[in-house]
Amino acid sequence: MDDGSKGKKGFVTDVLKELLQSLRMDLVHSVGPVLMMKAGAEVTRPYGIKTIASLNPIMIDGTGMCGCCRVIIGGRMMFTCVDGPDFDAP
Ligand code: FES
Repeated sequence: MDDGSKGKKGFVTDVLKELLQSLRMDLVHSVGPVLMMKAGAEVTRPYGIKTIASLNPIMIDGTGMCGCCRVIIGGRMMFTCVDGPDFDAP
């Protein structure tokens, strides 16, 4: 919780910045709200750390046929159900 009621007060990006300064990381795998994952990727980008975002849009058929889970990754249209759900978030 951002208000600190579950531990640390602040955003996950604040904790990530602290960890990046004290630990060596090779990979950050983020799961959660899209804007949070985007902000996390922006924090790791200057460090050159491989960052994975796990997307979970609404899925209907799970086969790539309905188009419901369509996302644009690096300018390419992809389907989260068959191409993901984990994508590079450079
Ligand atoms: S759930 Fe239908 S294309 Fe992915």
